[in-house]
Amino acid sequence: TKTLKQLAKPTGVRVGTAIDTSALASDATYSTAAAAQFDSVTPENVMKWEVVEPERGRFDFTEADKLVAYAKAHKQKVRGHTLVWHSQLPAWLTSGVEDGSIDKKALKKILKQHIATEMGHFKGDIWAWDVVNEAFNEDGTLRDSLWLQQLGPDYIADAFRWAHKADPKAILFYNDYNTEGINAKSDAAYKLIKELRSEGVPVQGFGVQGHLSTDYGLPNDMQANFHRFAKVGLKTAVTEADVRITLPASPAEVQAQDNGYSYMLQSCLLERSCISFTVWGFTDKYSWIPGVFPGEGQANLYDEDYQPKSAYAAVQRDL
Ligand code: XIL
Repeated sequence: TKTLKQLAKPTGVRVGTAIDTSALASDATYSTAAAAQFDSVTPENVMKWEVVEPERGRFDFTEADKLVAYAKAHKQKVRGHTLVWHSQLPAWLTSGVEDGSIDKKALKKILKQHIATEMGHFKGDIWAWDVVNEAFNEDGTLRDSLWLQQLGPDYIADAFRWAHKADPKAILFYNDYNTEGINAKSDAAYKLIKELRSEGVPVQGFGVQGHLSTDYGLPNDMQANFHRFAKVGLKTAVTEADVRITLPASPAEVQAQDNGYSYMLQSCLLERSCISFTVWGFTDKYSWIPGVFPGEGQANLYDEDYQPKSAYAAVQRDL
């Protein structure tokens, strides 16, 4: 039987996974399966700011470099994740802003430098970058992040311009959650991106994370949502798919999970602009869900013992 990447080949859609680099180093079953099943990888944490610049001016790409080497060895694309985000920032940065030792002008320089240094380091090795992550609230207003507070809404356009300079070949994505379907949040992202494009800002992709829960219904018109971004010139992608369940899982919830994966994958396969379908980890063994959503879990395609679940069969069938 064929692996996911073998099945995906003729579709033109890359099938990817987030990679936990400590599992990659310590768990041979994990690294073998990730290489066999996927032709795109995303570092789950090791390209985030707190990891790559733990102290001001000291960059550390050790872990991320290992991920890139692994991807090269297995002919996988790399999705870079993520450059501008409100979360997982180094303490020196957040405390410096708080105590005023980093003022607005300095912060803008720091952000520009961060993008140039990180993208420069990986130049040519990254297929697509999540340049800006999670900038919107659910109601469509901009998130009141450190970036918005200090730099104003222009930080988004600036980030894309700086990113394009740093690595002109990488596909530059805006990425967010709860934007799979058509709703207030994706409407706002669409409006802003359309505006930015008309001003020549190089936003080139719209990524929807795809963190679903069986406690909620499926997103609304996901294919149509992708299509409107395609019409303004963007690629689209599912970047972090998982479907969590409140435990213990009932048969109906397992079925709903299969449907969640299937719906997101089919929406991508049916929409020509969609270039990749990435899951946020492939085994329940290392899932971020139980740590962040207590009482929920079993969100991935394989169980903790690397047995493929019915969600895996659903993906296999749809590819
Ligand atoms: C998560 C990781 O999976 C965790 O290991 C980490 O502790 C927190 O971040 N949206 C994103 C991802 O864009 O970067 C997040 O990843 C999950 C939600």
